[in-house]
Amino acid sequence: MVPTTMKLICAILLPVVFAARVHRIKLNKLPAANHNSELEASGSGFLVDGHYRTDDDLFWAQRGHGVPLTNFMNGQYYAEIQLGTPPQTFKVLLDTGSSNLWVPSAGCTSVPCQLHTKYISSKSTSYKANGSTIAIKYELGSIEGFVSNDMLDIGGLKIHNQDFVEATKENGLTLAFAKFDGILGLAYNTISANRIVPPFYNMIAQGLVDKPVFSVRLGSDDDGGEVTLGGIDEGAYTGTIQYVPVRRRGYWEVAFDVFTFDGENLDLENTGAIIDTSTSFIIVPVDVAEMVNAQIGARKSWNGQYVVQCDRISSLPDVSFTFGGKRFPLAASDYILDVQGICISSFVGTDIDVGGPLWVIGDVFLRKYFTVYDLGRNAVGFATAK
Ligand SMILES: *[C@@H]1O[C@H](CO)[C@@H](O)[C@H](O)[C@H]1NC(C)=O
Repeated sequence: MVPTTMKLICAILLPVVFAARVHRIKLNKLPAANHNSELEASGSGFLVDGHYRTDDDLFWAQRGHGVPLTNFMNGQYYAEIQLGTPPQTFKVLLDTGSSNLWVPSAGCTSVPCQLHTKYISSKSTSYKANGSTIAIKYELGSIEGFVSNDMLDIGGLKIHNQDFVEATKENGLTLAFAKFDGILGLAYNTISANRIVPPFYNMIAQGLVDKPVFSVRLGSDDDGGEVTLGGIDEGAYTGTIQYVPVRRRGYWEVAFDVFTFDGENLDLENTGAIIDTSTSFIIVPVDVAEMVNAQIGARKSWNGQYVVQCDRISSLPDVSFTFGGKRFPLAASDYILDVQGICISSFVGTDIDVGGPLWVIGDVFLRKYFTVYDLGRNAVGFATAK
């Protein structure tokens, strides 16, 4: 029989031991802005033509570049990481839509590199050369560079021997004006360029986290939110977490069964939804965008955005997304963004087809639904954010 005091100590100690291996990273959010929107960096770091490999298929996610960057000019979430010894600090977009880590290289002369912090390998005693060349294309631009290896510190977790990309060339206005220096991908290793082991996989392999899980709470301007590595931020949601299986391990992609607008169901066939922290809005097929935006009385403005009269928001219908049989509603006040008095619809039209249509579910949804990314059970969990 264990003495009572002993039990008490165990009861107190256990959660503490647990908590010690859950690591929190504060997110910063840029305020939404509407001025000079072409220059506003957008988000949307998700990978566009990566080597899309599933267990037995090989896909190329080929996409046109038809999406005006101005459509993505809303907020963006970034966090700080450190590379090397002594640590060099970078701001990175934490991106569930891609799987590589890159930062600008000391030798990069592209304009975006000149406007950001660059990694200087010669100043790090833990740097190891690799040198293989690499190129990555995102919705927001593209980079070229080479692979290097160093210590990566994220949220107090020290990952040894992380392969990452030193970008020697960066293309795209969005990257130039971005608040972040680089991108840290949190999707599956199957879409990692050059098959580089992504940071979260190394964290698991090196025993730095207890569970192969992370959760993301996206906040608003003053409280950007938080990413929790190795566990779930239990204080970030209400109700229960509803898990939806990942239908293809590449992006965090779930089966998208039904889109409901004003009570009417649009049944979707062989359609996937990518859960993507780096996309501000919701990317839907062009015909759906036209239909929904017409129904809510949104009109295309000079910069390609669909704009609604702000005083109409309260009279506009709910929409809902049914993922793997579970329904997640959004109110008009969620899917319409008031950006300094201009109300923008978050339904952006672009046809994406990767072995079937794909929608991209971005921040407007993720602010309402706290999300859990579970590599162990291969599922995405959603719960109403607090
Ligand atoms: C260089 O990086 C690639 C990609 O991560 C890796 O597969 C390879 O083993 C590395 N080579 C060396 C010599 O470390």
